[in-house]
Amino acid sequence: MKLSLETRSPADARGDVLVVGRHSDPARPAPEIATLDKKLGGLLSAVLKTERFEGKAGQMSHFHGEGRIAAGRVLVVGLGPRKPGDAEAVRRGAAAAMRRARDLGAASAAVFMAGDGLTPRRRAQAIVEGAILGTYRFDRYLKEKSEKVIQSVAVVESERRNHAAAREGLRLGEIWAGATCLARDLVNEPANVMTPTYLAGRAEEIAKAGGLEFKVLERAECAKLAMGAYLGVAQGSQEPPKFIHLIYAPGRRPRKRVAVIGKGITFDSGGLDLKTADGMLRMKDDMAGAATVLGVFQALPRLKLPIEVHGLIAATENMPSGTAQRPGDIVRAMNGLTIEIGNTDAEGRLTLADALAYAAQEAKPDEMIDLATLTGAVVTALGQGISGLLASHDRLAAQLLADAEAAGERMWRLPLFEEYKEGLKSDVADLTNVSSQRGAGAIVGALFMRDFTAGIPWAHLDIAGTAFTERDHPLGPKGATGVGVRTVLNHLVALAGRA
Ligand code: BES
Ligand code: ZN
Ligand code: ZN
Repeated sequence: MKLSLETRSPADARGDVLVVGRHSDPARPAPEIATLDKKLGGLLSAVLKTERFEGKAGQMSHFHGEGRIAAGRVLVVGLGPRKPGDAEAVRRGAAAAMRRARDLGAASAAVFMAGDGLTPRRRAQAIVEGAILGTYRFDRYLKEKSEKVIQSVAVVESERRNHAAAREGLRLGEIWAGATCLARDLVNEPANVMTPTYLAGRAEEIAKAGGLEFKVLERAECAKLAMGAYLGVAQGSQEPPKFIHLIYAPGRRPRKRVAVIGKGITFDSGGLDLKTADGMLRMKDDMAGAATVLGVFQALPRLKLPIEVHGLIAATENMPSGTAQRPGDIVRAMNGLTIEIGNTDAEGRLTLADALAYAAQEAKPDEMIDLATLTGAVVTALGQGISGLLASHDRLAAQLLADAEAAGERMWRLPLFEEYKEGLKSDVADLTNVSSQRGAGAIVGALFMRDFTAGIPWAHLDIAGTAFTERDHPLGPKGATGVGVRTVLNHLVALAGRA
C-alpha cells in the first residue's frame, strides 16, 4: 500500500474515495467538513439526514461526488462517541472504511478525520495502522486472489503547521502496522512450512535486512549451555531445534538493555500427553510469541532507539515419538533447577525457562518481557479479546498496561501471588511443570517461569486467547492477529524516552 500526505483540503483531495470520519455526538463539524458540504451543494448533510446517520462506530454511508469535488465518491464512517485521545476509534474507523472502499472497487482513498482530540502525529499514525491492518489478507496459498485491492491511501492534513507531525505519524503507522502484518503472516503459515529451521531463516533475513547481530544456537550448543528443559521438549521431533538470538544495538552506549522473548513452538501436539483433535487443530499458532518478537525486530532498525534490545526464541516442535520426553522425566534447566515433567503438554514454560535463564545470563537486561501462547486457562479467564499480563515488577506492569492502551490492545493484569507456588512442588525435583492444585492455570504457568528470571524485572504476556481469532475483528480478518507487536514497540519507544 502506497501512503502519502494530502495537504489540500478534503474537498480538493484526490482519490477514488474520500473517507470522512464522523462522531455520534452532535458537536459542530470541523470547518473543512462545512466547506466540503458547501462544495457538494449540501449533498453531504442531506444524505446524512435522510439516512438518519448517527455516527455509530462502524456505521457507513456513501454517495457520488458528481464532479463537485476532486474525489470520485464520499464515504462517511461513524466513529462512535467523542472521547478525546481515542486513537482506537480512528484506527477502527479507517479500517472499516478501507474495507468498504475496497468492496466498492476503489483503488485509492483519501482519509480525513477530525475532532478526535488526537495530535496530528497520532491521528495520522492511527489512520495508517487502521488502513493497513484492516485490509490485511493471508492469500498466498489461494489460486483465486481477490482483484480488489486498495493501492494507495492519502492522509488528509490541510493545516500547514501539522505537516511535519503528520508525516512522522505516517512513517510510524507504516512501521507499526508492517511489523504486525509480518507477525500475522508468520503465524498464519502452516506448521509444515513454519518449522524451527524456517523460522530461523526468516529471523536471519530480518537481521540481515536491518543490520542486526544474529546467531542461532544448534542443539549441540544448547546442550553445552545445559538447556535441558528446552532440549527435553525438542527431543521428540524430527525437526532440529533452533535457539534464535537477535540483537539490536544503538550506535552509542545503550541507556537501557531489554530482552524480548517469544514462545516458539512451531506445532504443539501436546507430546506424549497428546492433545485431542479439537485441542490440536490450531496449534500452528503456538509460535505467535516468536512472531511478535520478529515483528518488533523488523521495526527496530528504523526507529534508532538508544537502547539495546535482545530478541530470543527457543524454537522447536512438541511432538510424540519414540524419542519424546515422558511424563515423569526429570530435566535440568540452564540455571541449574531440576524439573519433573508432570505433563508434556505444558512445554511452553519449559522452553521459556531456558530462554529466560539464557537472557538473564547472556544479555544481563534491565528488564525482560516474554510473550507466549502459554495456557488454555487464560482463555477461560479473559476470553479471546484480552491478553493476560503477569509481572514481577509493578512499575513495568503499569507501563505495559499504558503501552497496550495506547496501541488499542486489550490487556489485564493477573496476580502473581505466592499462594499457588505450593502446587509446583515435586517430591523428586526442584519443581514440577504442572500444579497439583486445581485452577488458576495462567497464574501457575507464570509462577513457574518466575523461577528462571534471576530476579530481573520481568513481565509475561499470556496471548493464548488473543494471538488467533476465529472471527473477523475490527482491525483484521480471522486468523493471526499479530498481538503484542504494537504494545512492545510503544513500550520500547517510551523506555528510550525515559532512559
Ligand atoms: N499451547 C498450549 C496453550 C494454548 C491453549 C494456546 C489454547 C492456545 C490455545 C500450551 O502449551 C498447553 O498445552 N498448555 C496446557 C498446560 C497444562 C497441561 C498445564 C493447557 O493450557 O491446557
Ligand atoms: Zn502444550
Ligand atoms: Zn504450547
